[in-house]
Amino acid sequence: MSDTQEINSGLEGVVVAETSLSMIDGQNGILRYRGYDIDDLAQTTSFEEIMYLLWFGSLPTSSQLEDLKARLRSHRQLSPAVKSVLSSLPTTGAPIDAMRAATTAMAMEDPDERSLDADDVQERAIRMAAAFPAMLAAYIRLREGKNIVEPHKELGEAGNFLYMLTGEEPTELQSNAFNCYLILVAEHSMNASTFSGRVTFSTITDLYSAVSAALGCLKGDAHGGANARAMEMLLDIGTKENVEPYIEESLKIKRRLMGIGHRVYRARDPRAKHLMGFSESVAEQKGDRTWHDVAVRLEDLTNEHPFFTERKLYPNVEFYSAPLLYSLGIPIDAMPAAFAISRIVGWTANLNEQLPGMRLIRPQARYTGPETAEFKPIDQRG
Ligand SMILES: CC(C)(COP(=O)(O)OP(=O)(O)OC[C@H]1O[C@@H](n2cnc3c(N)ncnc32)[C@H](O)[C@@H]1OP(=O)(O)O)[C@@H](O)C(=O)NCCC(=O)NCCS
Repeated sequence: MSDTQEINSGLEGVVVAETSLSMIDGQNGILRYRGYDIDDLAQTTSFEEIMYLLWFGSLPTSSQLEDLKARLRSHRQLSPAVKSVLSSLPTTGAPIDAMRAATTAMAMEDPDERSLDADDVQERAIRMAAAFPAMLAAYIRLREGKNIVEPHKELGEAGNFLYMLTGEEPTELQSNAFNCYLILVAEHSMNASTFSGRVTFSTITDLYSAVSAALGCLKGDAHGGANARAMEMLLDIGTKENVEPYIEESLKIKRRLMGIGHRVYRARDPRAKHLMGFSESVAEQKGDRTWHDVAVRLEDLTNEHPFFTERKLYPNVEFYSAPLLYSLGIPIDAMPAAFAISRIVGWTANLNEQLPGMRLIRPQARYTGPETAEFKPIDQRG
């Protein structure tokens, strides 16, 4: 690499692949999955339809959808090895770490773990996506000393997760709200976790390893960990009256408001309005609007504040996900893992898309250390 070659900090603006999965127009706040506007999909489809769309390229017919649902149902059950790993993990860790451990156990049980045949990769994508909600619900219950709830035979992906988490069938509203959440976070172009999955896969390793890398990346506060951080922030603020001083103090001490800002969007994240709506209705049904109202107040005040308007900092997907997931009873530390049970679809769709003509992703760094250094044996140093 020459000394004059520009370094793109954070790879901002660098195009690393072609994709037909999703398109983001950050200036205008538009997100499309395979050409379909997210607004048309968010509240009128099931998560399973979006899985089909992302994995197989078109919205399914009724029989294609039934077939996919049956395949998912047949893989919802966790194997004894995965259950045993989940039950022996420390109860103090992050649920998304438990999912990484369980993903590794799935890989080690799979005799064709290394197959890169496109059909095999797709089959494993379905198996992982089917198992992820069960893994997360199981870990949360086990660490609380409760029994694992086996999957429901009738409920769809969203309702079944909430059922396995609580042991009770969710209300229709709760199920619809979580379904919408899963749809909205399923895929998002070359986000950091998708990129890390693609980098890992490009070394010609297995799908499980690529997904494990993506899980580790999603956990970060600048990415999927922001939903938990945003909820902690809302709890820290406590009341609507405290929002204004909290913002002022944050600006003074340079503390970021979680769930605000985005690398690509310079407008409000198009997913926020759907999450805001469900955050409100689920909170209403639960009889506690506190956290929704604190979030709305915070958005209103940032929309009037020059620091945020000048920098075009608006709520991202995590902002209203936080009070919504909280009202749905998902523990705060499990929120990044709840994100993963949807994004597994986007990751695996990307990895399958990457397969034909896959090339090792290996960028360069500009060396800034000494040009040469004189070597001395250990007894002559110091
Ligand atoms: C998402 C995020 C990492 C994008 O970061 P980025 O594209 O690298 O943007 P930068 O860190 O360069 O920030 C640009 C400016 O906006 C400010 N800024 C960005 N996000 C901010 C936030 N949430 N609160 C306060 N200020 C913020 C930065 O301080 C910087 O200000 P400056 O120009 O005076 O230095 C960032 O907005 C953030 O940390 N948000 C909070 C975490 C979050 O919600 N993540 C989930 C993303 S979906």
